[in-house]
Amino acid sequence: MLFFLDTANLDQIREAKSLGILDGVTTNPSLMAKEGIVGEQKVYEHYKNICEIAEGPVSAEVISTDYEGIIREGKILSEIDENIVVKVPMIRDGIKALRWFSNQEISTNCTLVFSAGQAILAAKAGATYVSPFIGRIDDISWNGVELIRQIANIYAIQGFDTMILAASIRTPLHIVDCAEAGADVVTCPLNSILGLLKHPLTDIGLEQFLSDHRKLNS
Ligand code: E4P
Repeated sequence: MLFFLDTANLDQIREAKSLGILDGVTTNPSLMAKEGIVGEQKVYEHYKNICEIAEGPVSAEVISTDYEGIIREGKILSEIDENIVVKVPMIRDGIKALRWFSNQEISTNCTLVFSAGQAILAAKAGATYVSPFIGRIDDISWNGVELIRQIANIYAIQGFDTMILAASIRTPLHIVDCAEAGADVVTCPLNSILGLLKHPLTDIGLEQFLSDHRKLNS
């Protein structure tokens, strides 16, 4: 399973990269706004900077919601760097655009997916990645991880090669559950990835080892 970082923050991307566990990055307009990146040119420059650090797939989301606009924006984004993945919302014109990008061999990420039906449509349209938002599903008392399992099952039965990119990850346990449910990729905040490190028995065990070592070597 690949680890993407869900952020537009360059320091966090550098930190994940330095740990050696970063496979790629996803962004969205809210994450770009959070970093104070405003204006078309600034946004494009920021994507360029992210690509230089990440050295893997970087999802860059279109703002347009009509077919022509999505294609125009997606073409500009895809020319920023060979690792750019054009992120397209799960809407009618988005589906049409996914097919166009797929025919041009431009990588895509179909975002804002909340049902198995939407995931089937994204795969039929040739999306490279499909992004079910599991945290937001949990937020309304449905089961996000179960959706990952259902999509993984359907894609396996049908032989779809669209990759399942579990998004809207909120906790380390989401990552573990998504791995078990068949996600190909998880995109997460850095804290959720770092949370995987933690176990009290690791800390207790390490302290014991170091203390025993100190006793004999002091
Ligand atoms: C996915 O690509 C989105 O950027 C993201 O995972 C959304 O997460 P949120 O629900 O925490 O905003």
